[in-house]
Amino acid sequence: MKFFAIVGSGRVGGNTDRLTDAFLKGAAERGHQIAKLHLGETEVRPCLGCNACAQDGVCIQADGMERLLPAFLDCDVVVLATPVYFWGISAQLKAAIDRLYALGEKDPKGYYRYPQKRCVLLATAADSDRHFWTFELMEHYYRRLARYLRWTDLGILTAGGCGGTAVPRCIDTTDHLRRAYRFGQSVGASLP
Ligand SMILES: Cc1cc2nc3c(=O)[nH]c(=O)nc-3n(C[C@H](O)[C@H](O)[C@H](O)COP(=O)(O)O)c2cc1C
Repeated sequence: MKFFAIVGSGRVGGNTDRLTDAFLKGAAERGHQIAKLHLGETEVRPCLGCNACAQDGVCIQADGMERLLPAFLDCDVVVLATPVYFWGISAQLKAAIDRLYALGEKDPKGYYRYPQKRCVLLATAADSDRHFWTFELMEHYYRRLARYLRWTDLGILTAGGCGGTAVPRCIDTTDHLRRAYRFGQSVGASLP
């Protein structure tokens, strides 16, 4: 199967990027194809809400979404990777998710339908995993999103205690990269 990771962090080579690479490595070792797009390198601007895409499914903005969409449409598993920013996902990842709006097609009942995917959430934060609130809102949002889009949720990996962004790559001093690698292996092993 094809895994496509969208890394919604501003820091290339940062905690979230490292966590994603570890996860993808595990999945690749189970025989899957992997691809990654880092939104710190490829800018995806926010949805304008202009609804121009409702006419022909094409967004009027020319930006990184032109790179993201083909990989997204082609993949079987979408890996959403983000740092916690004020208890939620990053604006970078949110912008990319919002822009999927252009892919919605109305069914006979008038409900929007989106391409069917499996999905995973990978998240890093400065605060500890031990506080229930560190990832609470993000997990809730992700589960609601997956349910609305009718995607199959393959799981969440939260990596707390990664330090703030003033520190280069604090995640290297934690156990999270090993956890993400194992998670990638187990998700990979569960898929044909
Ligand atoms: C704007 C901003 C908001 C943040 N908000 C939170 C937060 O609410 N909770 C938290 O634990 N960490 C917060 N952090 C810390 C990051 O989640 C953490 O450093 C993360 O690992 C950074 O990932 P990166 O290395 O991929 O950039 C915030 C960082 C920034 C820059």
